Amino acid sequence: ASGARVQALVIGSGYGGSVAALRLAEAGVEVHLVEMGMAWDTPDADGTIFANTTRPDRRSYWLRTRTKQPLSNFLGFPLDKDVPRYTGILDAEDFSGITVYQGRGVGGGSLVNGGMAVTPRREHFGAVLPTVDAGEMYDRYYPRARAGLGVNEVDPDWWEAADCYRYARVGRKHAERSGFPHLLVPNVYDFAYMEREAAGDVPRSALDGEILYGNNHGKRSLQKTYLARARETGRVTVSPLHRVASVAPAADGGYTVVIEQLDTGGQRTATKTVTARRVFFAAGSVGTSKLLTKLRATGALPALSAEAGKGWGDNGNVMCGRANHLWDPTGSLQSAMPTLGIDNWGAGGAFAEVAPLPTGIETYASFYLSITDNPHRAEFTWNAATETVELSWQRAWKQRSVEMAKSLFDRINKKEGTIYRTDLFGTYKIWGDHLTYHPLGGAVLDRATDNVGRLRGYEGLYAIDGSLIPGNTTVNPFVTITALAERNIEKIVATDLRMSVAR
Ligand code: FDA
Repeated sequence: ASGARVQALVIGSGYGGSVAALRLAEAGVEVHLVEMGMAWDTPDADGTIFANTTRPDRRSYWLRTRTKQPLSNFLGFPLDKDVPRYTGILDAEDFSGITVYQGRGVGGGSLVNGGMAVTPRREHFGAVLPTVDAGEMYDRYYPRARAGLGVNEVDPDWWEAADCYRYARVGRKHAERSGFPHLLVPNVYDFAYMEREAAGDVPRSALDGEILYGNNHGKRSLQKTYLARARETGRVTVSPLHRVASVAPAADGGYTVVIEQLDTGGQRTATKTVTARRVFFAAGSVGTSKLLTKLRATGALPALSAEAGKGWGDNGNVMCGRANHLWDPTGSLQSAMPTLGIDNWGAGGAFAEVAPLPTGIETYASFYLSITDNPHRAEFTWNAATETVELSWQRAWKQRSVEMAKSLFDRINKKEGTIYRTDLFGTYKIWGDHLTYHPLGGAVLDRATDNVGRLRGYEGLYAIDGSLIPGNTTVNPFVTITALAERNIEKIVATDLRMSVAR
């Protein structure tokens, strides 16, 4: 309610926010978790909570009147269609040089993502988080994060025979024949459930192509893991469809937080003010960066570091497809949860996942999302004239990622005598180089914050999400975001909160 005082206010309910809420509550702190997206806990008129990938509807996009599908075309035909404007689950947020896809709702990105739960190779960790003790991370916080997230592995025997992973086995065969290392990657999707889907015993989700717009079954999103445990403490209040607009020091200590309540059309229906002793920014790399950049520029938090808003990267994301020969069908049934990674990071700066193309028909296509060692970093700035936050990322910077991805797929194409698909991102366009699924940075650890995420310039303000990571994790990022949040909150609870809880 407006006028309330809370001990801790957490902005955003993705990985960082969920870890913070749970661990603070366990330490005895009353937590108010504010999330701009919907709760996603109630079935729609069709009986399901989430829309199917092949049949997008109003639930699919955040305040758009037309879908913006990452794979925009097929066989040259545009796939996008009109939808009613609604506070849907996937935000395709456009900046001048890049579209950043993000989850919106209680659970953040865990609602929409592919569930790939990958821990970076330890020898690369020094480049990912240079100021963090790797020993502590690999012995303590990565295992804690994987356990908390419900990470599990596919049964290799089942995988080898499953129709729904034919596409992944074709991807593996081609990687192997070109001499690239590959691995089965863990996931948070419940593989035991997936086996029962394949056997026809339970309603289908991954095997019905569900990804991007939510999973109705089988996926262990944060709603089912960290956030369920946070609610069980009885100390966490969650406010969906509430967006934090401002944070500023309060006259008598703590912070005044201005929160806008939204309706499902995206209109503001009420403005509330809460006073919080501590505020945790967990609005995701883009959300946290936008807030900090705006609040510094507009005078709400003028003492924030000049580093806030800097060091943003796209995890080097780039997509492409290959056209296989007729003797390499990839299957009409494809599990929406990827399981195979091709690791050419050391030699070529690319880690590729063999991604599904769940169209329901045989396409003879192999589809990949590559994570590459792109060195470019962008900055968020406040445009006072338009009152918006801009991002300096340039489309041409993706060329470095394309080159690294080519280190894999040019060689595979040569070996197999195959070509790139040119019909997935437009007409005669090979590379999906306009987007990222993995925004990282903007409040980089030990730069905009101290080495545990305390924002420089203000006591009691923290960043605890993907904004802390300087632009790249060498693999898919959410396990690292979660493990870093576990590390930081443990240190924050042990030092900063002891006194305030005792009081
Ligand atoms: P996250 O974005 O999860 O959460 C931030 C939350 O804050 C959101 O719910 C948002 O609505 C809310 N918010 C923002 N501003 C706010 C405000 N002002 N007030 C209130 N709330 C606000 N990663 C991976 O490791 N494996 C994978 O397989 C995939 N696959 C994948 C697919 C797709 C389609 C996407 C879009 C992303 C992935 N990812 C992924 C990436 C992964 O989902 C992402 O890195 C994390 O969700 C980021 O976690 P954070 O905690 O940083 O923020």
